[in-house]
Amino acid sequence: MSSLGHPGQRARMGVIAGRPSLGSIDRGAVVCSCFGIGVNQIASAVAQGCMSVKAVGQALGAGTNCGSCRGEISQLVERHRANIARRSDVIALTHTTVGAAP
Ligand code: FES
Repeated sequence: MSSLGHPGQRARMGVIAGRPSLGSIDRGAVVCSCFGIGVNQIASAVAQGCMSVKAVGQALGAGTNCGSCRGEISQLVERHRANIARRSDVIALTHTTVGAAP
């Protein structure tokens, strides 16, 4: 095994590089320090249907301990929910325009 092949060594190299090492998940900036849940994980949960702080907590655990992160989770849910709705509007408009008679 090479010196970079060891999982601990790869994690250390990620710390030095300031970003996740190859093969690891980029959690994004930590929002919930109790569970180490990052902004990218919350965005992914919202994209998969978690549309409330409670739903994010059930999916990831975030916000279910001390609760100090719930406000930020709420803002992230609202922002990502709005982005998803905006994209859905564009898709619906595109289908309407493409399907419309001349
Ligand atoms: S920081 Fe999220 S529950 Fe404590």
